[in-house]
Amino acid sequence: KGGFEHFMLKEIYEQPKAMRDTMTGRLNAESKLITFPELNWTPDEMSDINKIFIVACGTAYHAGIVGKYYLEQLARVPVEVDIASEFRYRNPVLEPESMAVIISQSGETSDTLAALREAKRLGSRTLAVTNVVGSSIAREADQVVYTYAGPEIAVASTKAYTTQLLAMLMLAVYVGRLRGSLAEEKAEALATGLVSIPEQIHKMLEDVDQIKVFAREYGSSEDAFFLGRSLDYAVALEGALKLKEISYIHAEAYAAGELKHGTLALIVSGVPVIVLATQMDVYDKTVSNLQEVKAREAVVIAIGFEGDTSLGKYADHVIYIPKTDKYLAPLLAVLPL
Ligand code: M6R
Repeated sequence: KGGFEHFMLKEIYEQPKAMRDTMTGRLNAESKLITFPELNWTPDEMSDINKIFIVACGTAYHAGIVGKYYLEQLARVPVEVDIASEFRYRNPVLEPESMAVIISQSGETSDTLAALREAKRLGSRTLAVTNVVGSSIAREADQVVYTYAGPEIAVASTKAYTTQLLAMLMLAVYVGRLRGSLAEEKAEALATGLVSIPEQIHKMLEDVDQIKVFAREYGSSEDAFFLGRSLDYAVALEGALKLKEISYIHAEAYAAGELKHGTLALIVSGVPVIVLATQMDVYDKTVSNLQEVKAREAVVIAIGFEGDTSLGKYADHVIYIPKTDKYLAPLLAVLPL
């Protein structure tokens, strides 16, 4: 366990290295270019893709939801995200112009493998995003992007998830440039921002005292809620899964705007609500949702950018993360979760 108390903690602390390994050979810090030599796609190959299906289970599925935002916003391709155990039985509409992106840490999850086979049977192109070299999914997909996270022993994914997000973001930048839908300057700015991410994660992991206080204070709660909009919502889904899996606390994630459609009834005095507020285009809306849960006397732990002076006025506690681009924020916002 490398001196750590357990494997999950070890793998949390391996994230800076894992992320550097995911970038190696793909992100050139000098030219600010993101490429995938193993794919070597051409603009023509990319321009006729009419739809991407991302298929996965559990944490990998949550990485796929973040991937949808990335691919739609940066590469302007319509994306559907499916749970593998649903996709394989629902007779989906795929064609040669579709691309199925299959995400799996192990490359062996049986529903995900079956979904890959179904996509191939329907004539779609297939790409595996996986960690395990030579796994069944890696072998059977047309093409593979390895995440190079190193062995996952803990079962509860941490570095597997963050490297999947990183791979999906780099893929979206790569496809966006090939399709001509992403401006050079934006692609370069994202590449530059990514170079700093491993060090930023390293620094965040050095100071976890605040997290320990929250664990002591709220560890005996029976329920917890995670709220966010846009990419923050996608990250909230993984936060809720991890809390359930590791602490046995019932946890739910909601798109913050969905709260008023019934769920607000569950927000009662003292319930911890973790609100992610890193997406500036929906920031005001998120803060107004935060105020709604505060009005019902929930305990609000907000996650926002350093320098944000307003969150502290409404939330009970704020966890600050380094200020970064909205597409890079999930890579940092998920750490405290
Ligand atoms: O190996 P896979 O990525 O295909 O596994 C899929 C899920 O079982 C997995 O992501 C699971 O949800 C996480 N390990 C939970 O932390």
